[in-house]
Amino acid sequence: MAHIIVVGNEKGGAGKSTVSMHIATALARMGHQTAVLDLDLRQKTIGRYLENREAYLATLGFDLPSPEYHELPEIDKSSLKPGENIYDHRLSAAVATLEPDNDFILIDCPGSHTRLSQVAHSLADTLVTPLNDSFIDFDLLAHIDAEGEKISGPSVYSEMVWAARQLRAQAGLKPIDWIVMRNRLGAQRMVNKDKMERAVSRLAKRIGFRVAPGFNERVIFRELFPRGLTLLDLKDVGVQKLNISNVAARQELRDMMKSLNLPGVSINF
Ligand SMILES: Nc1ncnc2c1ncn2[C@@H]1O[C@H](COP(=O)(O)OP(=O)(O)OP(=O)(O)O)[C@@H](O)[C@H]1O
Ligand SMILES: [Mg+2]
Repeated sequence: MAHIIVVGNEKGGAGKSTVSMHIATALARMGHQTAVLDLDLRQKTIGRYLENREAYLATLGFDLPSPEYHELPEIDKSSLKPGENIYDHRLSAAVATLEPDNDFILIDCPGSHTRLSQVAHSLADTLVTPLNDSFIDFDLLAHIDAEGEKISGPSVYSEMVWAARQLRAQAGLKPIDWIVMRNRLGAQRMVNKDKMERAVSRLAKRIGFRVAPGFNERVIFRELFPRGLTLLDLKDVGVQKLNISNVAARQELRDMMKSLNLPGVSINF
């Protein structure tokens, strides 16, 4: 049975699709059969990313290990049970089809609260939450005082994860391993950065997540989308020498992947 990784944060633009693409491609490149579902049915960022990959590799005549993108199946409304939600049904049908033949199913969630995203969270064996290094983004996890020091309580997104955890416990499923990673970190040490680091690690203990090393703000994380590549693919498409920033980005990806601690995965890049 596949291990389900959900990448979620109801804050838009936190880096979910970028992180999803890198995790899924890293897994595929390490030989793990990986399926990808995109729950942003409108923007379909990771779907588009993987379509770009297929098209670009086809023009080069290359075949690089890649995750497989799957659309949610269309469901005949008449097949729904009374009161059953069509989106729940589409998601569970997709997962049921993919589970037997994949090592991992990665689900990229939209940057808003949707029913589909909520259901996906309750399916997560591993939940990865990228977080921009800003207290506006932090506010969806927890409320904090004016100094950015004292946490007064959980916020909407953490409460949603808590509800997903409850659901899993009731169903006798293993608990969600929740990992928060800061994304688009600035290179310099700054007061805000230190404050965020402290606030995130304090919150980790309080609401039960692990903190993974994050990604810095780097051009390489956003320029490869049109070709559908990740920084792990550069050498294979003929980039002879990685620049320092790309080498550092690769190290960030390696450290993040290690800290996810996924079953059966030993990081070899
Ligand atoms: N580490 C990074 N360095 C530089 N740019 C980044 C980084 N991570 C993400 N970005 C850029 O930030 C923007 C948001 O990233 P992305 O689309 O992955 O976020 P998202 O959480 O999936 O957004 P949405 O909520 O809309 O689905 C994009 O323009 C992306 O290229
Ligand atoms: Mg996205």
